[in-house]
Amino acid sequence: MSHKILITGGAGFIGNHVVRHFVRRYPQYEIYNLDALTYAGNLENLADVENAPNYHFIHMDLRDMARVVELFETHRFDGVIHLAAESHVDRSIEDPLAFVHTNVLGTVHLLYAARKVWGDDYEGKRFYQVSTDEVYGSLGETGYFTEETPYAPRSPYSASKASADHFVRAYHHTYGMPVIISNCSNNYGPYQFPEKLIPLVINNILHRREIPVYGDGSNVRDWLWVLDHVDAIDRIYHHGVLGETYNIGGNAEMKNVELVQLLCDLMDQRLGRPAGESRSLIRFVKDRPGHDKRYAIDISKIKRELGWQPRTPIDEGLRRTIDWYLDNAEWLQRVTSGEYREYYERHYAHR
Ligand code: NAD
Ligand code: TYD
Repeated sequence: MSHKILITGGAGFIGNHVVRHFVRRYPQYEIYNLDALTYAGNLENLADVENAPNYHFIHMDLRDMARVVELFETHRFDGVIHLAAESHVDRSIEDPLAFVHTNVLGTVHLLYAARKVWGDDYEGKRFYQVSTDEVYGSLGETGYFTEETPYAPRSPYSASKASADHFVRAYHHTYGMPVIISNCSNNYGPYQFPEKLIPLVINNILHRREIPVYGDGSNVRDWLWVLDHVDAIDRIYHHGVLGETYNIGGNAEMKNVELVQLLCDLMDQRLGRPAGESRSLIRFVKDRPGHDKRYAIDISKIKRELGWQPRTPIDEGLRRTIDWYLDNAEWLQRVTSGEYREYYERHYAHR
């Protein structure tokens, strides 16, 4: 019998890499990609696997519980890798309810459907929740998030992801559901929607537009090449211990302003522009409300137990990312028209 995996959010940034990896690497699995195709979801991202015999797309919104239950009853999935979410902190500040509906209720609908169909027969089943390090809150200048760090989310986005994680854990403790959670730091790479810092900066440099850096640019993020995350997800799905949490990070902490300056220099080299030209586009703008100061991850557990560690150095990953965006100018053009323009104007007008 084939192994059927439901991947949610497969048309989004991380999801398309996860879907492509599982479709290609495991031809014996049937991969079902469920996605509502919001502004962040784009089937174009999966054009190279859409005709694979083990790939199936389901256009569905996780907020619609009746349809989610019906889907589970029809396909009786063996595994779930749950990535679908509203994922942008700034949008969560503008519209927190959308994050409750998709991230909290959407996750609970999936859990409900899985339990209804699986009953108490969990043999060979697993429910994998892909989450973020932002649930742990904000660090000062020192220290790292471990799997034991208490949850202390501070933005509507991280609060909604934390809430979803709590429900996943509650299903494990209450109903014995075979769950796993991973909490990962900031990803970057091809197909990331240009509302997020790295592709936004690349796009603005390309068009010689101002580069908005929030506050004084001293906030620190840890950056992970998206395909290193996919490798971790594969290992966790197959070998992770049920009921456990794994932290995933890039060992690549940078202040935002340093990251932006590095991107400016790499872009100037790549585009043959005079050194320093792009740095002159940097503008320090009004800070994000409640802006978390620093995220950093202790990856010793996943390294010790699953043999995973990040492989791609940040400068190499950034070069590849820049190359991808420059080689895919039409993709960038298409996703930055329409809704993106309105969002950009609304969000950055008064900063
Ligand atoms: P994304 O915003 O690029 O993609 C999200 C996808 O979910 C889109 O395809 C969208 O259409 C789909 N979606 C949204 N609402 C939906 C709904 N109601 N029903 C069905 N589908 C819906 O997000 P991403 O950056 O790829 O993140 C994927 C997951 O990984 C999220 O759960 C996020 O919290 C987590 N994560 C992201 C990062 C990061 O740096 N991007 C880091 C750690 C964890
Ligand atoms: P982002 O990519 O939105 O990810 P997250 O908030 O989930 O970490 O932002 C990364 C960092 O960059 C964060 O500290 C906020 C900052 N930032 C800016 O300075 N300017 C911007 O225009 C954006 C979108 C983010």
